[in-house]
Amino acid sequence: MSFMFATLAPDPGRIAPAAAGDGFGVYVHWPFCKSKCPYCDFNSHVRERIDEARWRTALLADLDHYSGLTGGRTVTSVFFGGGTPSLMDPRTAGAVLARIARNWPLAADIEVTLEANPNSAEQARFAGFRAAGVNRLSLGVQALDDAALRFLGRAHDQAEARAAIALAARNFSRFSFDLIYTRPGQDRAAWRRELGEALAMAGEHLSVYQLTIATCRPRTKRRRFTI
Ligand SMILES: C[S@@+](CC[C@H](N)C(=O)[O-])C[C@H]1O[C@@H](n2cnc3c(N)ncnc32)[C@H](O)[C@@H]1O
Ligand code: SF4
Repeated sequence: MSFMFATLAPDPGRIAPAAAGDGFGVYVHWPFCKSKCPYCDFNSHVRERIDEARWRTALLADLDHYSGLTGGRTVTSVFFGGGTPSLMDPRTAGAVLARIARNWPLAADIEVTLEANPNSAEQARFAGFRAAGVNRLSLGVQALDDAALRFLGRAHDQAEARAAIALAARNFSRFSFDLIYTRPGQDRAAWRRELGEALAMAGEHLSVYQLTIATCRPRTKRRRFTI
């Protein structure tokens, strides 16, 4: 069985020349992470075991349900967010993309983004995601400094982050990465330097987020910040 999105794309009857006002995006959430970053208030959870086949079946059933509500409209973009969707088996992403292609017409220039953590284990999957139909990668770099990455509780170091950016640039025609600023101890000059370095490595897009500490009680047991 093939999950390859690219194998479905050539059906000319299913590719819309342009999304004439009816275009919409499909967001697919993968709510699992290897570890919980202490600043993160997203719907993301650490689980020892995930029944991925069951999740895949549920995602496909959801897509069938929503196609019944939006049938005939054109999909212009797909975004795999998280959590950490780069922990998914690329075949799951391929199966989701194949089902989207079966259920809706696709814009000829459809953008398919996947959020990824820069850990080396996940870098090994980048080519698999590209083969499955992902054409844009969004990397959670957060900082280009080891002390800051430790403070943020990240599972990667700055060398892995730089390697992941280079690999994303080689594998995907479009990529972006995220940085978090206003970290404790980070003055304006340090941020200016880091931003300059980031811009030198960036593609056409860079996302910068001001560090926000959620004040609600954490639902998941996690390390707390000491600022
Ligand atoms: C869904 S999250 C992360 C995707 C991926 N799991 C990762 O961590 O690399 C998307 C982005 O939101 C930003 N973010 C998450 N929590 C934040 C917070 N509390 N303050 C500022 N930025 C935050 C981070 O830059 C993160 O990369
Ligand atoms: S920042 Fe990313 S890796 Fe960290 S807990 Fe949130 S979703 Fe997971």
